[in-house]
Amino acid sequence: MKFELKATDPNSSARAGVMTTAHGDIQTPIFMPVGTAGTVKAVHQREIKEDINAQIILGNTYHLYLRPGLDILKKFGGLHKFNGWDRPILTDSGGYQVYSLAGIRKIKEEGVTFQSHIDGSKHHFSPETVMDIQRAIGADIMMAFDECTPYPCEYDYAKKSMEMTHRWLKRCCDRFDATQPLYGYDQTLFPIVQGSTYKDLRKQSAEVIASFERDGNAIGGLSVGEPHELMYESTELVCSILPKDKPRYLMGVGTPENILEGIALGVDMFDCVMPTRNARNGMLFTTQGVINIKNKKWEDDQTPIDEHLGGYVSTFYSKGYLRHLVHCKEMLGAQIASVHNLTFYLWLVKQAREQILAGTFLEWKNKMVKHLMQRL
Ligand code: GUN
Repeated sequence: MKFELKATDPNSSARAGVMTTAHGDIQTPIFMPVGTAGTVKAVHQREIKEDINAQIILGNTYHLYLRPGLDILKKFGGLHKFNGWDRPILTDSGGYQVYSLAGIRKIKEEGVTFQSHIDGSKHHFSPETVMDIQRAIGADIMMAFDECTPYPCEYDYAKKSMEMTHRWLKRCCDRFDATQPLYGYDQTLFPIVQGSTYKDLRKQSAEVIASFERDGNAIGGLSVGEPHELMYESTELVCSILPKDKPRYLMGVGTPENILEGIALGVDMFDCVMPTRNARNGMLFTTQGVINIKNKKWEDDQTPIDEHLGGYVSTFYSKGYLRHLVHCKEMLGAQIASVHNLTFYLWLVKQAREQILAGTFLEWKNKMVKHLMQRL
């Protein structure tokens, strides 16, 4: 994988770049829609590609390992062939889902034993098995197996956990380097910085992670309930240590505001369930601010969901019709709202990129943060 920086903002740490993968280029900064179980919930592949124009989507090791399972994925020739998405895919390692979803789990140096949230069956993930699973999925970007600490987290636990994540990273790298891709195209591995909200741990973790000299680096353990200021402080510190010539990925972030602030701090990649999950609950992000489409005030509103955004669903359907669908829990409501929110998120990062290339990012960002988070 290659990463080329095209511009850096003169007034912040924002950057615009291009990542090159076996399944195509990614213009950064980028938002990656979350496709947990091999589908971005309620959105067709054609819509993700042609309407939303996503450049890369996420999959989850934990979910795909449980269902459909590796035998099926291998028979199909990997996730790209299975779900028909021919652009890049990044898979999270399960280092987050095991802790947030699985039943009773035991974390040991060797790995994690857990119970499936689907049928209670027992499974074991280790750095080695997680590399093998992501090889079988065929992700362009594979993530290291880590422990994502909760917030708040005692210092001693955060330190021990971070040190184990570093030892697990060594095992991930050894396994990755000792194995070959299954489907004939290159894959790459990103390590993950941990260290909770402790500055000395974050610094240490960023230094250790950078020393592995992989193609890109991720920042984990944030957006887990800590105040936004702490998330920004940790991100700033870690970005000042991670190499400038490699992409930086802030995992699980976030709101439009979080994304713009993250870009200003030097982050290149983001993912979050927020645009799709909140869409299913009637929360819409628009170029004019945030809408709760369930509110009665939208009942007779005949204007498009967002006439300034462009994109098919955002300009074709009215707010009043979408309110009706969401109110009745019609499946089409979830589909329209999800496509709309993702169109907005991809529009946002594209605008950010254009502002970085033009050298006007910081002023634009400060204006947009206030504008976009208004409640309409
Ligand atoms: N998604 C959001 N945060 C994290 C994290 O810390 N680790 C992993 N593996 N995935 C995440």
